[in-house]
Amino acid sequence: MITMDVINLRVPTKVTLFGEHAVVYGTPAIASTIPVYIGISGRIINDGVITINIKHGLQFQANNIVIDKGCIRVDIEPSHVKKILGYILTAINICEEELGVARGSYGYNITIDSPLPIGVGLGTSAAISVGIISLCLILNKYINDVENHRQEIARLAWNVEKTVQGNASPMDTYTIALGGLRYIVPSTLTAYSIDIGEELPVVIGYTHRKGTTADLVQKVKKIKELNERIFAEILNTIKNIVEEARRALINYDLETLGLLMNINHGILQSLGIVNTEHNLLIHTLRAAGALGAKTSGAGGGGAFIALAPSKSVQEKLILVAESLGAKVVSKSLCRDGVNIVH
Ligand code: PMV
Repeated sequence: MITMDVINLRVPTKVTLFGEHAVVYGTPAIASTIPVYIGISGRIINDGVITINIKHGLQFQANNIVIDKGCIRVDIEPSHVKKILGYILTAINICEEELGVARGSYGYNITIDSPLPIGVGLGTSAAISVGIISLCLILNKYINDVENHRQEIARLAWNVEKTVQGNASPMDTYTIALGGLRYIVPSTLTAYSIDIGEELPVVIGYTHRKGTTADLVQKVKKIKELNERIFAEILNTIKNIVEEARRALINYDLETLGLLMNINHGILQSLGIVNTEHNLLIHTLRAAGALGAKTSGAGGGGAFIALAPSKSVQEKLILVAESLGAKVVSKSLCRDGVNIVH
C-alpha cells in the first residue's frame, strides 16, 4: 500500500551544547533542536525512478563519467551535493529494507529546501536522514503521522548516519526526531527531555568548516590511540561537565552554564578540532560579554554557541560574531522535532 499524496515535512536542525566527540565513545551529551528548518517534501511517482530536487539553485557538475553496459558512474562536484545524495539514497534504502518493500514499478519525487549548507555542525545531514526516513515511512503507508513513531524514526535515521559516515553517535538523529533540549544517553538510546522554564539567551552560528565530521572524528580517534589512559580521563571530565550542565540547565544557572561551556571548549581545543579562526571568534565573544562560548559539533571551524547574560548583550554578541565573518542563524533553542506540515 502506498499513498500518492504529496507529504510536506518541516525538520529542525540542531546545536550541541555539551559533550560532542565524547558521545561517540558512549558518554552522554546535551543537544537541542533550533528553529532553523529544512523543508522536505515528496510523493510517489509511477516511474521506477527517484527524482531529487535540491532547492536554492544548487547546480552540479559531473566529472569522470564512466558508461559501462548501460550503467553510468560519475563524480559530482561540488562534493556536498554528492554528500546530500548519499544521505537521501541511503535513507530510502534503509527504510525500504526495514519495510520489506520492493519498489519495482514506482519511485519518489523528493524536494529538499535547506537554509543552511550541509556539514557546518548544525545537524543538516541528520535532519535530511530523519526527514527522508519519515517521508519514506509515510509514503509507504507504514505510519500516518510522526507523533507516535519518533523513536523508530530516530533509530532508522541513526542507521543512515552510521552507514554514510562510518561512525556516528545517536545524538543528532535522536535530538532531531524527538525535538527540544535533550540529554542523550547513547548506551540506552534514550534522549531525556530537559525542561527549562525560560528561554536561554544564546547566539548560534557558524563559520567556514574545513574537514568533514568523519575526518574530525578520526582525528580525535588518533589522539585516543596515542594515549588511552589520558583519553579515558578526558572522557570522564566531559562526562562530569555534561552532568553539571544538566543540573545548571534545570536550575537556570547561567553563570555555571557559561563556565562549563568554556571548559568544554578548552577540552575540544586540546583534542585538536578547534581551528585558530574559531578560537579567535570564541575568545572575542567572551571578551564582549558572553558568559560562555564554545565550538559546537565536530569542529574544524563550523558551528559555535555563545551564552549571553541578557538580551542586550545577546544583540551585541550577534554584531561581534557577524563582524568577524560568522553567520548567525538563531537566538534561541526550540521544542520541535520533525513534523508533518498539514
Ligand atoms: O558537527 P556535526 O553536526 O556533524 O556533529 C558531530 C558530533 C560528533 O560528536 C563529533 C559526532 C557524533 O556522531 O556525535
